[in-house]
Amino acid sequence: MDKIVALCKRRGFIFQSSEIYGGLNGAWDYGPLGVELKRNLKDYWWRSMTQVRDDIVGFDGSILMNRAVWKASGHEATFSDPLIDCKTCKGRFRADQIDSSTCGLKPSKSPRECGGELTEPKTFNLMFKTYVGAIEDESAITYLRPETAQAMFVQFKNVVDVTQKKLPFGIAQIGKAFRNEINPRNFTFRSREFEQMEVEFFVKPGTGPEWLEKWLEERLSWYEAIGIPRAKIHVLTVPEKDRAFYSQGTYDLEYEFPFGIQELEGIAHRGNYDLKQHQEHSGKPLEYFDEESKTKYLAEVVEPSAGVDRTVLALLCEAYAEETVKDEESGKEETRVVLHFVPRIAPIKAAVFPLLKNKPELVAIARDIYKKLQPLMKVAYADSAAIGRRYRRMDEVGTPYGVTVDFETLEGTKAASVSATGAPIELGQKDTVTLRHRDSMKQERIAIADLPAYLLAKIS
Ligand code: GAP
Repeated sequence: MDKIVALCKRRGFIFQSSEIYGGLNGAWDYGPLGVELKRNLKDYWWRSMTQVRDDIVGFDGSILMNRAVWKASGHEATFSDPLIDCKTCKGRFRADQIDSSTCGLKPSKSPRECGGELTEPKTFNLMFKTYVGAIEDESAITYLRPETAQAMFVQFKNVVDVTQKKLPFGIAQIGKAFRNEINPRNFTFRSREFEQMEVEFFVKPGTGPEWLEKWLEERLSWYEAIGIPRAKIHVLTVPEKDRAFYSQGTYDLEYEFPFGIQELEGIAHRGNYDLKQHQEHSGKPLEYFDEESKTKYLAEVVEPSAGVDRTVLALLCEAYAEETVKDEESGKEETRVVLHFVPRIAPIKAAVFPLLKNKPELVAIARDIYKKLQPLMKVAYADSAAIGRRYRRMDEVGTPYGVTVDFETLEGTKAASVSATGAPIELGQKDTVTLRHRDSMKQERIAIADLPAYLLAKIS
């Protein structure tokens, strides 16, 4: 895990928030490569949920909502953790994690073993409280949303009315959520500000259990498509005593992180709890009119709720490898660090290299290929250092393809006559470059004209 955290900083995936001021616990910034990785992940989820399915529509709700939402949902009263304070070291610990916590004064001991005086557990609400408007009084209180879900329940009727969707159908949303976690830890795994990808899938009464099973299968194969094998995901049937109060059945999808097997996503059968609560509290009907049976009823909900940041972390952990390989130039054995991202998720899809940077004819063709690929996908251009080193640097950030313009490219091409001033290049149909594959390190020749279609097919 330490190596992954170091790589994330070194190569610009993830930085500590407010780092120059000593950081802010539980908050993280995504650097230039991290933001591409995260965006690719969210785009693929969005495409899987809203573009290639007929039965889910997209949505983007506000983070701030009327406080009444959080009263109705139960968050204001119950979204809390039990905490125990130590009067001796002034530490504060989650009651359910106290045995795995460490004493502030005697780090080799847990708060139960150190002899400090502990209080009885007290509840601590995890929502961040804030005030709307200029007056900071009771009437202005609201919260930063602790889940994206509630806006989709509250707008259920509007969405049905404008889309004419029939049950079963879903609403999908990606967005930030905030929880004042007592103990943010394991890098980005447990943060105070994070993103969720949630679907609220509305189904006919009584059909929740069968949709829960369908969503389990759907989500397991989705993780495979982003490069997290089924064998690395553990499906936990959450026992009733550990389920959220609204849940009639929950599966947790857990991943084998280096720090232990931990939750990536929860898939919950929420029954009609949320719609019922909002209908009662708002006084506005949220029932669905079933044209077939000519009856009105409250829909049940099955909710696959995934964490963006946790999935990014799982992708990094899954992709990271250290391999003993032969240097592609010298033939000497060395260790390479490589991220084996699947191409659709990789932050950079291809890197274009002129073999030598002091050969204008190579540089001109490489720049031309780079500029032609740029509108189609995220590409990089690199001309400094030996080609073997440039391959390694791209391996380390998970770029699946390297495109090298070399002397063979020049053979028989009109490009050989390109001037150092960068006159336009006319490439023939048969001009080729070296295409280097990150995982196998194999190299082959490919016609420049075929390159865009080849790469597009690989990344889609
Ligand atoms: N709407 C249901 C809901 O919010 P949850 O299990 O509390 O359910 C769903 O959260 C997902 O959100 C989790 O599986 C996890 O991936 C992510 N998540 C929750 N709390 C998080 C935190 N503090 N830091 C990072 N991700 C978190």
